[in-house]
Amino acid sequence: MKKFFVTGGAGFIGSAFVRLVLEENEDISIVDFDALTYAGNLENLKDVDDARHTFIRGDICDRDSVLNAVPDGCDAIFNFAAESHVDRSIHSADEFLRTNIIGTQVLLDAARAKNVRRFVQISTDEVMGSLPDESDDYFTEDSPLQPNSPYAASKAAAEFVLRAARETFGVDTVTTRCGNNYGPRQFPEKLIPLMIANAINDDPLPVYGDGKNVRDWIFVDDHCRAIWKVYENGRSGEAYNIGARNEKYNIDVVKSILDALGKPHDLIAFVTDRLGHDRRYAIDPAKVEDELGWKPQMTWENGLQSTIDWYLNNQAWVDNIRNGEYRNYYKAMYGAELKAT
Ligand SMILES: NC(=O)c1ccc[n+]([C@@H]2O[C@H](COP(=O)([O-])OP(=O)(O)OC[C@H]3O[C@@H](n4cnc5c(N)ncnc54)[C@H](O)[C@@H]3O)[C@@H](O)[C@H]2O)c1
Repeated sequence: MKKFFVTGGAGFIGSAFVRLVLEENEDISIVDFDALTYAGNLENLKDVDDARHTFIRGDICDRDSVLNAVPDGCDAIFNFAAESHVDRSIHSADEFLRTNIIGTQVLLDAARAKNVRRFVQISTDEVMGSLPDESDDYFTEDSPLQPNSPYAASKAAAEFVLRAARETFGVDTVTTRCGNNYGPRQFPEKLIPLMIANAINDDPLPVYGDGKNVRDWIFVDDHCRAIWKVYENGRSGEAYNIGARNEKYNIDVVKSILDALGKPHDLIAFVTDRLGHDRRYAIDPAKVEDELGWKPQMTWENGLQSTIDWYLNNQAWVDNIRNGEYRNYYKAMYGAELKAT
């Protein structure tokens, strides 16, 4: 039995990874370590009813808790735990620097102390900054790290911390840098679930600036399968860019959601742009495709429809969030009240 330590496994991508890995492998057990911040949700793990899955509530910055929780003979640490929302990092960066940088260092120290065989860091394309509008440029693994938001800066710093652990102590590390994920169980502050939840409830859909920012969308399970390939066969010390060659203007994504739900486009409300808003992300995934034989399996059309269906079928999950602290966040962010559900 292989033993994995997964951090952030109650979040959006971490929970998808835990579900997929347990479903597709019989010989793996997972210790799932998550602080259950506003973004962590045990409901995300409700159907992971498996004797091979152990959930521990804990903070990755807490050395003793981490050391106690990493199982002896651990094969790999997968670090998903992070503060992950750019807007929140603009409001206050402290928690981002703490969790995303210090937390990564604590986990690397634990990997050394416990002789963990491999450390997989879930990074982001945002560490590479922004590409020019309407250009043919793409992020490759050779693109310089030039983060623009406090969130991206903290994730880039984590990559340097990782590099130092490898160069100084020989920790076996690999890094994934993925584009924008979408799929079930994503916290509704992020673009796609925000728009789906607001459209379902006939709340205005707040679109930043001119809506012409470009993001490269990937279905969450495709990202998770890429992480798995990088864990299994990625070269030590290397980073792998993950993307589905699926660039979209934000405004087109929003219109597709309204069309799929049969809602009018006049629900769209353009709002003042995000400070320092990166214009375009586009990933060249040739390295993970050619070296590791990974390809996305989900088309954009099917992925978006199945995501919308999930939110329609799980309105209690969304309402729980929309009726909680998220209401205050939303009002502070967009200056508008969400409709009661
Ligand atoms: N969402 C995306 O589009 C995307 C794209 C590329 C990379 N990533 C990266 O993937 C990872 C997961 O992203 P996500 O969208 O699932 O995020 P998320 O915000 O949905 O989940 C983050 C999880 O980490 C947990 N967490 C936060 N601080 C913690 C701490 N100090 N100790 C332990 N647990 C803590 C939260 O409780 C939550 O369960 C992040 O590292 C993010 O940078 C995300």
